[in-house]
Amino acid sequence: MTDWKAVESRVFMTTGRRMPVVVVRGAGTRVWDDAGKAYLDFFGGPAVHSLGHCHPVLVKAIEEQARTLIHVSNAVYSVPQLQLAELLIANSCFDRVYFGNSGAEANEAAIKLARKWGKERKGGAFEIISAVDSFHGRTLASVTATGTDRYSAPFAPLPPGFLHVPFNDIEALQQATTAQTCAVLLEPVQGEGGVVVPNPSYFPAVRKWCDDNDILLMVDEVQTGMCRTGPLFAYQGMGFEPDVMTLAKGLGSGVPIGAILAKEECSVFTPGDHGSTYGGNPLATAAALAVTRYMLETDLPARVEKTGGYLWRKLESLKPKLPVVTGVRGKGLLLAVGLSSDLAEKVVLDCLANGLIVNNVRPNAVRLAPPLVVSEAECDEAVSILEGAISRAA
Ligand SMILES: Cc1ncc(COP(=O)(O)O)c(C=O)c1O
Repeated sequence: MTDWKAVESRVFMTTGRRMPVVVVRGAGTRVWDDAGKAYLDFFGGPAVHSLGHCHPVLVKAIEEQARTLIHVSNAVYSVPQLQLAELLIANSCFDRVYFGNSGAEANEAAIKLARKWGKERKGGAFEIISAVDSFHGRTLASVTATGTDRYSAPFAPLPPGFLHVPFNDIEALQQATTAQTCAVLLEPVQGEGGVVVPNPSYFPAVRKWCDDNDILLMVDEVQTGMCRTGPLFAYQGMGFEPDVMTLAKGLGSGVPIGAILAKEECSVFTPGDHGSTYGGNPLATAAALAVTRYMLETDLPARVEKTGGYLWRKLESLKPKLPVVTGVRGKGLLLAVGLSSDLAEKVVLDCLANGLIVNNVRPNAVRLAPPLVVSEAECDEAVSILEGAISRAA
């Protein structure tokens, strides 16, 4: 058998740490490694596999589109792109959409949009406030918006105009606001930051502050969007409407695509302002169209609500049995188990050895983001493996 780890260390630019497993196949909630061993995938891409691995609806859409038209320049019209745009607009509070290829790129577009809006509509305001421990991607601007210094520090000098405030703290946001503030960029639930859910009053208060001070409210739904937290978009369950939203991950259920959506009033891009060779190409948008239609036609939000509640209760039931478990947090099928000490890596490796892929999103927290079509029986199986791993690690 090829030693793929050795190949990686010889030829690949190592930019992150990998789990010691080579995954070669996936179906539904399971993947298989190169030795044929099966794993339940509760990491999911992360939070990408909305329909699970190789869902037949997605495979069919890709196959059909691959036979019809894989790519065409954005200098011409293409049908799946505009069908997907219509569907997203019809099911959100937004008026316009533009497609890219990833979450970082979608946020990069949002940052550009906010800066142009500030230039044209707010006397040159260019500052963007985002949250400490946020994650918005790895391009130079999106990593600067990301509130984790160690991701951006190696690339200084960073673009100017980015401020960070503690998440879920309206006063900190108010104090950081200046006449130069053009936008606030926030995740509805912080994902990479450790699955952090704000108080119910936070986003309505942010909305009011933005309205009162002529600031765009931009939500990064790259992780929370596409039913991950229950509703199609997380903001829909949180009592406010943003001006701008970004999507990626679950939109393509594994096929690379990102999107920026905006209300008409702040949709200031004009020809020449933005572009991407592959952005919204027929293959990616046909895939995302099939994914989005499936979500709406099968009422996936209701299913996520139900299975998410089930998984939450199963995880909560670990607390009385395992004192090291401090609690469960999250929304829908974006959940984390908090631990009283930094045992998450040990737990994750033990789970892997026992056929479950989860993620140590924080040194003391294990994230679960399974496919949204996961069954209750699969949740039982995963929680039982997790329970064994936590009890051995503690
Ligand atoms: C909230 C959020 N925004 C942006 C990104 C970046 O997306 P991508 O890796 O597709 O560039 C991520 C990735 O984890 C994310 O969780």
